[in-house]
Amino acid sequence: MLKPLLILSALLLLDFSAVAQEGQAAPKAEPSPQYTIPVEAVKKVNPVKPTTESIARGKKLYGYDCAMCHGKGGYGKGDVAEDMKLKISDFSDPAALKEKTDGELFYIIRNGKGQMPPEGDRVKADALWDLVNYIRSFAKKPAPEDKGAAPDKSN
Ligand code: HEC
Repeated sequence: MLKPLLILSALLLLDFSAVAQEGQAAPKAEPSPQYTIPVEAVKKVNPVKPTTESIARGKKLYGYDCAMCHGKGGYGKGDVAEDMKLKISDFSDPAALKEKTDGELFYIIRNGKGQMPPEGDRVKADALWDLVNYIRSFAKKPAPEDKGAAPDKSN
C-alpha cells in the first residue's frame, strides 16, 4: 500500500532534480527570489587594469547598452528606467558598489539581474571587465588625464 507511493515520490524527486539542473543552463522562466552569485564568480580577479583606454572602451559600450537604464552619469535615471519605474542604485555614490567585488559586477553584467537583461556572450569577457572598470569610475573623481573617458554628468 505504501510502497508504490514511496516509489512515486522518489521518481518525482528525481524528476525535480533533473529539472533543477537543467534550469541552471537554460534561462529561468521566473526570476528566483534569491539572487546568489557563485563563490568562484565573486572571487574572480579582474584581469583588465582600469587604464584610461579600458575606461574609454567601457564608456562606449555603456553608452549603447546600459545608459538607457543606468543613465549617462550612472545615476540610475535613464529614459527606460524612468519609463519602467525601475529601482536602480546610483553608481556615482561611492557606497553603491563598494561592497561588491569586480567579479560580482562582472557576473551581474553578464547574467543580468531582476529586470536587468543579461549582456551574455554578445561581447567578449574583456569588454565586460571594461564595463566594470567604467562603472567603478562613476564614484571616483576623474583624474585630469582621464578627461576623455570621464563619466558624463548629465543623468
Ligand atoms: C533594462 C534596464 C537595464 C539595462 C539595459 C541595464 N541595467 Fe543594470 N540594472 C538594472 C536594474 C533594474 C538593476 C537592479 C537589479 C536588481 O537588483 O534587481 C540593475 C543592476 C545593475 C548592477 C548591480 C548594481 C547593484 O547595486 O547591485 C550593475 C553592476 C549593473 N546593473 C550594470 C549594468 C551594465 C554595465 C549594463 C550595460 C551592459 C546594464 N546594467 C544594463 C537595469 C538595467
